Amino acid sequence: MTDLVRLTGIEKRFPGVHALRQAQFDLRAGEVHALMGENGAGKSTLMKVLSGIYQPDGGRIEVSGQTVTVPGPRAAQTLGIGIIHQELALMNDLTVAQNIFIGREPRRSFGRLDEARLNADAAAIFAQMKVTIDPRAEVHSLSVAKQQMVEIAKALSFNSRILIMDEPTAALNEAETNELFAIIRRLKSEGVGVVYISHKMDEIRRISDRVTVMRDGAYVGTVQAADTPIETIISMMVGRDLETLPVEIPDLGAAPVALEVRGLRRGRAIRDVSFAVKRGEILGFAGLMGAGRTEVARAIFGADPREGGDIIVHGRPVMVRSPRDAVAAGIGYLSEDRKHFGLALGLDVRANVAMTSLARFRNAIGVLNEAALEATARRYIAQLAIRTPSDRQEVRLLSGGNQQKIVIAKWLLRDCDILIFDEPTRGIDVGAKAEIYRLMQGLAAEGKAIIVISSELPEVLRLSHRIAVMCEGRLTGILPGGPGTSQEEIMRLATVRQGAVEEAIA
Ligand SMILES: Nc1ncnc2c1ncn2[C@@H]1O[C@H](COP(=O)(O)OP(=O)(O)OP(=O)(O)O)[C@@H](O)[C@H]1O
Ligand SMILES: [Mg+2]
Repeated sequence: MTDLVRLTGIEKRFPGVHALRQAQFDLRAGEVHALMGENGAGKSTLMKVLSGIYQPDGGRIEVSGQTVTVPGPRAAQTLGIGIIHQELALMNDLTVAQNIFIGREPRRSFGRLDEARLNADAAAIFAQMKVTIDPRAEVHSLSVAKQQMVEIAKALSFNSRILIMDEPTAALNEAETNELFAIIRRLKSEGVGVVYISHKMDEIRRISDRVTVMRDGAYVGTVQAADTPIETIISMMVGRDLETLPVEIPDLGAAPVALEVRGLRRGRAIRDVSFAVKRGEILGFAGLMGAGRTEVARAIFGADPREGGDIIVHGRPVMVRSPRDAVAAGIGYLSEDRKHFGLALGLDVRANVAMTSLARFRNAIGVLNEAALEATARRYIAQLAIRTPSDRQEVRLLSGGNQQKIVIAKWLLRDCDILIFDEPTRGIDVGAKAEIYRLMQGLAAEGKAIIVISSELPEVLRLSHRIAVMCEGRLTGILPGGPGTSQEEIMRLATVRQGAVEEAIA
């Protein structure tokens, strides 16, 4: 049987970056082939070459046994190649159906749009996918998960036999991920080949048949997913064995409380939440998506109004009405939605890192100390292993995971006493994750109070000194961190129903 796709010897250079070096990949009909590698390894770039977004500098692309060129996205569609990008690329103000058929809408006589047929065609694709989405809904009204489904529908509308998914579950919860996997399995059974890019190790096992690993733009190897230990895949990715450090829980008995939250309330989202974090402590926040963890963080940071509750910093009540107030009180918040709140994509790494701390780099007469700026940017590039040709590179040209590291650097530089990290390692590779954990532990050891919201239980368990669990807007319990606590205990508190909640707290 010939392969659906065979890429060999693919080369791609950008100014200052050798992004692909003799990269190779192949895809068979009816398989899910995972593509893995660290942030900046070249995964997205290789798939952009296959889908006509980038032109390779060398190498061969074969589709169903024929050598082809893919001069643009249209050509890719004609070849049956569909791609769902790491950054969703839908038009927010158009409807679902308009997005799917953009540029090729069915028309009546005199070129008038055939709205009814457009919606019916879209509905037919959703029926095939077995998902319920209203074709007339505007895209901005949909959850990220549903938007993801619309992207898939769009790719399927071209009768794609080759479907590329670049980190499709980065923003999906458990149930949504299961829904996506059901769709992938159906497509597989129909003979579609799926390229699956993800940093989530557990998913790779669940959904993929083969795994290809890239490192520094080059091919490392291909293994069977079912009988290859995760550790093997990780060491292929990072080129060494990663040590897993046990959590060390410091004795904070005498440490003063840095942040206390009392009786925080906002509608149904936050129902009477109280807790305290000590200096030097890492408090994890676990819970299912929608449990209210981000809402609590946003209320403390002044990003959303609150209906009640006190925020006490170092023993003194503070007025927090806006993020500016919060920062003045020494509270920093690294939002989960980095794309919207985090970065100036058109500016370079240096400017992004320093953006919110510029005052610190000015002298008495307001002149910027560029040398200090540069030194600082370089320090973070090294510390967080940010892959960029220099600190002058525009942030939009960095890989997805490396962009996230810049947001983290930005907040580290602001030197807040209390730092709230919301899903800090989403989309970040295993090696860099370990670096970020070490960094947070270092910050705590320096006496900062850290709150980490994470949907990955192993991460919460690995990092936290104590673990606060939320369910339906309430804090349902606080567990000790470390090996004494199990994932099951956390899940139990994360899923307690109303009524049971009072008991759990008592
Ligand atoms: N248009 C571009 N201009 C300059 N450099 C680029 C461009 N696109 C990608 N790169 C660089 O090529 C390298 C590979 O990036 P790529 O996006 O393929 O990584 P990735 O493996 O998808 O990483 P991630 O896991 O973070 O998404 C990176 O160093 C990136 O900065
Ligand atoms: Mg990528």
